[in-house]
Amino acid sequence: MFQSWDQLFGIDLGTSNTVIYQQGKGIVLREPSVVAIRQDTGEIEAFGAEAQAMIGRTPGNLEIVYPLQDGVIANFDVTSAMLQYFIKKTQGRLPWFRSSQVYISVPCGITNVQKRAVEETVVHKGAKKAVAVEEPLAAALGAGLPVDEPVGSMVLDIGGGTTQVAVLSLGGIVVSQTVKRAGMSIDRDIIDYVKRTYNLAIGERTAEEVKMRIGTADPSPEPMVMDIKGRDLLDGLPRSIQISSSEIHTLLDDFLQGIVDAIRLTLESCPPELAGDVMERGILLCGGGSLLQGLDRRLQEETGVPVYMSEQPLDCTALGAGLMVEYSRSSARAGSRMVRNASGGGGKSWKAAQEPEEPVRKEA
Ligand SMILES: Nc1ncnc2c1ncn2[C@@H]1O[C@H](COP(=O)(O)OP(=O)(O)OP(=O)(O)O)[C@@H](O)[C@H]1O
Ligand SMILES: [Mg+2]
Repeated sequence: MFQSWDQLFGIDLGTSNTVIYQQGKGIVLREPSVVAIRQDTGEIEAFGAEAQAMIGRTPGNLEIVYPLQDGVIANFDVTSAMLQYFIKKTQGRLPWFRSSQVYISVPCGITNVQKRAVEETVVHKGAKKAVAVEEPLAAALGAGLPVDEPVGSMVLDIGGGTTQVAVLSLGGIVVSQTVKRAGMSIDRDIIDYVKRTYNLAIGERTAEEVKMRIGTADPSPEPMVMDIKGRDLLDGLPRSIQISSSEIHTLLDDFLQGIVDAIRLTLESCPPELAGDVMERGILLCGGGSLLQGLDRRLQEETGVPVYMSEQPLDCTALGAGLMVEYSRSSARAGSRMVRNASGGGGKSWKAAQEPEEPVRKEA
């Protein structure tokens, strides 16, 4: 088979984080999907980690923007600029990116128009070819599940903006559920709870720290406490309070119930043979939200299905997308069903498809 010198990339363009895998180098970038914009001029002040450090500390004329919402592009121009910055950061200069092929993850269940918007963003930055692949498929492959085999595997990916449950077999997604509640919605629930209960306004970063340090889904959690600072809503002055893990544990109940329901619904709508495979082989947990303490034990207890963690929960989607683009270039893997499925679905070569059947719409 013809071998080209194209560079191959797998990109996980997530609501919270962007991760880039490059063939031969491994993971070359992990950055928050955040941008700081000057409101007066519209100019971009900072991207990624630098912009994240500004959250909650911006002067009046700076705005923090998450260009992706619920896993899809909410602001096309800002996403495009952010991607350009990340690619430049890993590659040094953009012209080099021109001879590249990219598989990029998108949430399952999005429309072809939304897939096209993602592909077009990558090609707009100079890539020769971009294919959008469904995130659970890439995550499962990156975590080492046998996705091309005639056997059912279940993946639960809890990201920043979406929670996705999917059963995969023969290189494709058989059934899936996407819930628009994930890591970022837990942070918002914590902010609301502290406001309601303590009359205290806290920022996003404090809420995320509370979740990571004392948030627990464990059925029998160890008591922990944490001091947090905020602004008193009555007198406007700074104040600190102590918050306990049992408060966060109770707060998480509703979110966790939503996940258990999504798992049940997915299993119910799945062909019996595949449901049997999942009962036997278990559920793979991935995405940053899966790092919540005790989540695996809790889900196992509530669903009765074995639950196990991915070894690289934050990287497996980019790794899987990278493996898919490598398979698509390898003669030994040319028959891979998942690569055929991905390229034949919403994804296709943008250089070969100059005339899209549907107009590409910029998401507002
Ligand atoms: N130790 C931890 N405990 C709990 N949550 C965590 C932990 N580490 C990271 N997270 C959460 O994981 C989320 C980010 O996960 P991830 O990077 O997988 O999301 P994403 O892929 O960008 O989002 P999406 O897939 O929804 O588009 C954030 O909400 C973050 O707070
Ligand atoms: Mg993700």
